[in-house]
Amino acid sequence: MQFLTLLPLALSTLGLVSASPIRREDNPALTWHVSNFNTVHTAVGYNYTFNIYGVATQNTPGFNTTCTGSNATTDLAACADPLIKSRIQADPFPVWNVRVEHEWIKSGDMEFYTYGEQNVTSPAPRFTIPVTQEYGVA
Ligand SMILES: *[C@@H]1O[C@H](CO)[C@@H](O)[C@H](O)[C@H]1NC(C)=O
Ligand SMILES: *[C@@H]1O[C@H](CO)[C@@H](O)[C@H](O)[C@H]1NC(C)=O
Ligand SMILES: *[C@@H]1O[C@H](CO)[C@@H](O)[C@H](O)[C@H]1NC(C)=O
Ligand SMILES: *[C@@H]1O[C@H](CO)[C@@H](O)[C@H](O)[C@H]1NC(C)=O
Repeated sequence: MQFLTLLPLALSTLGLVSASPIRREDNPALTWHVSNFNTVHTAVGYNYTFNIYGVATQNTPGFNTTCTGSNATTDLAACADPLIKSRIQADPFPVWNVRVEHEWIKSGDMEFYTYGEQNVTSPAPRFTIPVTQEYGVA
């Protein structure tokens, strides 16, 4: 796997070229919307569930899916839509660092990854995750 481009916040290969710093509020593709975040205490840690919605744009596929997992593993767990993955880590408890990855393939076999994270306490009916990193891989 070779990282061809490292484009923190730039998204320029997606056509979102901008001379000025990107203002996330103005760009729905760079903010994911989470609802119904909840955790339950289990024998091995905390299980979590949440819904996440990403707006489709010309250059980024949209999604709307449910994610579940456990803090017993630090690996990203596939959500119901397997292109979305998530994990949570106490940061420190009771604050959870929620990390989400979106992966998709564009024409030309380029694979794109976007990442975002947010810190929340459970339960959280609604919050947003700003997308802060993007990678293109060939
Ligand atoms: C996302 O999916 C849920 C469950 O199917 C639905 O209730 C909700 O309205 C959807 N959200 C959007 C923005 O489409
Ligand atoms: C917690 O999550 C793990 C892994 O996702 C799953 O195997 C386990 O059954 C869940 N436990 C409960 C009590 O929901
Ligand atoms: C899961 O979170 C709880 C609460 O912070 C912590 O006690 C436990 O060690 C965590 N599990 C792992 C594997 O990090
Ligand atoms: C979450 O908390 C960690 C540790 O306090 C911090 O480094 C990180 O910047 C926070 N992330 C967000 C999105 O606020």
